Amino acid sequence: MALWGRPAVRALRLWGPGAHVICDGKGGHLGNVGGRRPIAFSAGVSGILGNGGSSKKEKLSLQDIAELIRARACQRVVVMVGAGISTPSGIPDFRSPGSGRYSNLQQYDIPYPEAIFELSFFLYNPKPFLSLAKKLYPGNHRPNVTHYFLRLLHDKGQLLRLYTQNIDGLERASGIPASKLVEAHGSFASATCTVCRRTAPGENFWADVLGDRVPYCPVCGGIMKPDIVFFGESLPERFLLHVVDFPMTDLLLILGTSLQVEPFASLSEAVRSSVPRLLMNRDMVGPLAWRPRSRDVVQLGDLVHSVERLVELLGWTEEMKDLVQQETGKVTGCDK
Ligand code: APR
Repeated sequence: MALWGRPAVRALRLWGPGAHVICDGKGGHLGNVGGRRPIAFSAGVSGILGNGGSSKKEKLSLQDIAELIRARACQRVVVMVGAGISTPSGIPDFRSPGSGRYSNLQQYDIPYPEAIFELSFFLYNPKPFLSLAKKLYPGNHRPNVTHYFLRLLHDKGQLLRLYTQNIDGLERASGIPASKLVEAHGSFASATCTVCRRTAPGENFWADVLGDRVPYCPVCGGIMKPDIVFFGESLPERFLLHVVDFPMTDLLLILGTSLQVEPFASLSEAVRSSVPRLLMNRDMVGPLAWRPRSRDVVQLGDLVHSVERLVELLGWTEEMKDLVQQETGKVTGCDK
């Protein structure tokens, strides 16, 4: 069995063909993702951080992380993101006190916040979710500097994979190819009938939702649900790519997430303990808070400021400006 085959079997056993999303709200663990035989560090990393990747340095700094990327000592960067990367684009996150979606659902007739993403409630009353979906319509928002930083990392050939919990599609809109993306909680790109399981392109779903109509299956009349992952539903098959990606990675970036939803949150511990992990978030979260590692670097505060600081340390500021201008100009162009 290929090197990665054994972990894949273990993952399938652990999470089955479809891992289920559970939100225990306590940053709880689904279970150890299981150690795997990692790839040895490139010489560059050892050179910067001490031989053999086991650092002689005490704490690492943001400057060290920038040096690993800039000197291309890290070629296989894996990134995990959440709703915090999209708040600068005008899309509220879920759990920020006061501004998060879960604090502003009074207008919907739902028994508790997470019900809006529960299949049983959707089948009972799809309207709260559909009116929330209307606010998430991909055409209404644009990528921001964090998305374009990740696009630049891809353009430089150093992004192994971007794991996102977001359903706003802004990673794709920034120009990151689908092959580099794992949309762990699905996307609005397509919809599936909740009765006969026929699928339809997302455009059909949006035509109804933007017209304040419940989308029904043209064949059997069942309610059409977009292919985003509701609580209790299986994650997309592509999520299993983590079984190969995380043992391979030589740097993990975690941006704008509370790490409260499993099995996504557990991925933050699926890298070898000697692999540096950089958390950029307003506050300390998940396993990095209650089970920190020696190679963790934490940059708390506003995400855009943190990303701009990292870009400056990388010496990529001018390239970023050009990229944002080129992409925004493209967007403006098509708006004309
Ligand atoms: N700068 C820095 N941090 C920010 C910013 C910002 N501008 N905006 C938000 N954050 C942080 C918040 O403080 C929070 O820690 O981002 C995190 C967002 O956490 P959540 O709102 O819980 O979003 P997320 O982690 O993506 O939620 C995961 O929960 O409800 C489900 O399926 C849904 O995919 C979602 C999952």
